[in-house]
Amino acid sequence: MTRYRIAVVVGSIREASLNRKIAQAMCAATPDSLDCRIVEIADLPLYDPDLDDNPPDAWIRFRDDIACSQGVLFVTPEYNRSMPGPLKNAIDVGSRPYGESVWAKKPAAVATASPGGIGGFGANHHLRQSAVFLDMPMMQQPEAYFGGVSDDKFADDGSIADEGLRKIAESFGHAFAGWIDLIHKGRHLLACDPAGSDGERPAIPLSS
Ligand SMILES: Cc1cc2nc3c(=O)[nH]c(=O)nc-3n(C[C@H](O)[C@H](O)[C@H](O)COP(=O)(O)O)c2cc1C
Repeated sequence: MTRYRIAVVVGSIREASLNRKIAQAMCAATPDSLDCRIVEIADLPLYDPDLDDNPPDAWIRFRDDIACSQGVLFVTPEYNRSMPGPLKNAIDVGSRPYGESVWAKKPAAVATASPGGIGGFGANHHLRQSAVFLDMPMMQQPEAYFGGVSDDKFADDGSIADEGLRKIAESFGHAFAGWIDLIHKGRHLLACDPAGSDGERPAIPLSS
């Protein structure tokens, strides 16, 4: 079985983050085909092009972690109807120097969670907008806007106690595993397609 290394980027740097707990629950529920690891963003100095020739160690560590992954799962709150600053900074750090973005071609998905009713919709779609420019194939469905999330939906060990929330998080994790497999297997089929070089591509089966 192919195992894909997945970088999990949590948009909140708060210790008791609800989004971090949801990310951990999703990771625990994903099939064995995914090896999910949270890549920390709290220690990344603000992106500054003047530092490109002598980048901080934290930037190098972060870029290596993303570059070595075969997919990215973003789980983030919404700040002022957009993504939190630390997450935008992480995206910018990974996108430079120009022409050396570590995000390009990485299949990805985004889930947003908030105590508010609209579940971080604004952050979710701002992140999707950046993903278009970064050339990241983003899972379109299912969308995940977790609204009304609060501490009492979690057990003391951080796992999701609320059954409805847990089921949605788990099904999202499974759908993401399918998305990662689809993109990588699709690329493999295209690479193996002898007709690929002349533009006459036969229909390609998308499963198995
Ligand atoms: C600066 C700031 C801005 C926020 N803006 C929004 C917002 O636009 N929409 C929303 O639903 N919640 C907003 N919130 C509330 C967060 O969703 C809430 O604090 C959430 O718990 C943060 O996620 P975390 O628990 O993963 O840290 C904001 C919180 C902060 C600190």
